[in-house]
Amino acid sequence: MKIDILTLFPEMCESVLNESIIGRARSAGIIKVSCLNIRDYANNKHNKVDDYTYGGGMGMIMAADPIYNCFKSLYNEGEAKPHLIYLTPQGETLTQRKALDLSQMDHIVLLCGHYEGVDQRVLDEIVDEEISIGDYVLTGGELPALVLTDTVCRLIKGVLSDDECFTEESHFSGLLEYAQYTRPAVWHEKKVPEVLMSGNHANIAKWRRSMALKVTKAKRPDLLNSAQLTEKEKSEPM
Ligand code: ADE
Repeated sequence: MKIDILTLFPEMCESVLNESIIGRARSAGIIKVSCLNIRDYANNKHNKVDDYTYGGGMGMIMAADPIYNCFKSLYNEGEAKPHLIYLTPQGETLTQRKALDLSQMDHIVLLCGHYEGVDQRVLDEIVDEEISIGDYVLTGGELPALVLTDTVCRLIKGVLSDDECFTEESHFSGLLEYAQYTRPAVWHEKKVPEVLMSGNHANIAKWRRSMALKVTKAKRPDLLNSAQLTEKEKSEPM
């Protein structure tokens, strides 16, 4: 998987991408994530990347040319155009399903907007899809691009070690994850559920499934409409 992030703040992105699990996977060469500074592609004297908005109004708009040149530098004439995602609150909301679909692509490019917006003409010409990370507005597309990069990369084979596996966790199966515990067995007079210490794997799996259903019903009942439930689970009270 290769991800290129087109941004005016490459250091901000690098500082996050060099840490923890994603940093480890980059160093090991399992994923290739690069940050390109859009300013380096402004072919004007002062490396200017923004300008006033036509029609009047507040704020500056990111100009078409630097973004276009930056994107074009990623592939040669005649090669397939990489999939370009523009991070914007107007986009389709990011979900685990979407992350899984994107993790199956070879190369994605993320465009981070800033200021009051981006010249619509370059968006119309090069953007394949728009993604939002939620119904709220951030100061730029960098944090959304990092959220997307993190959630996509952790689904790539080899990025998580076996004991960090994602198949049991919230949203993977359409349900939220069951509660987890570690030592000590009693903490502040609260005991770890007996079944988890029983060593009986069938009973543990049953308990975890029933807890996942309970937690989902309590916290996100909307998810139950699209989760895969057995006939028995559908008919039983949780
Ligand atoms: N840029 C600003 N806010 C955003 C959001 N919520 N999602 C994606 N990009 C954004």
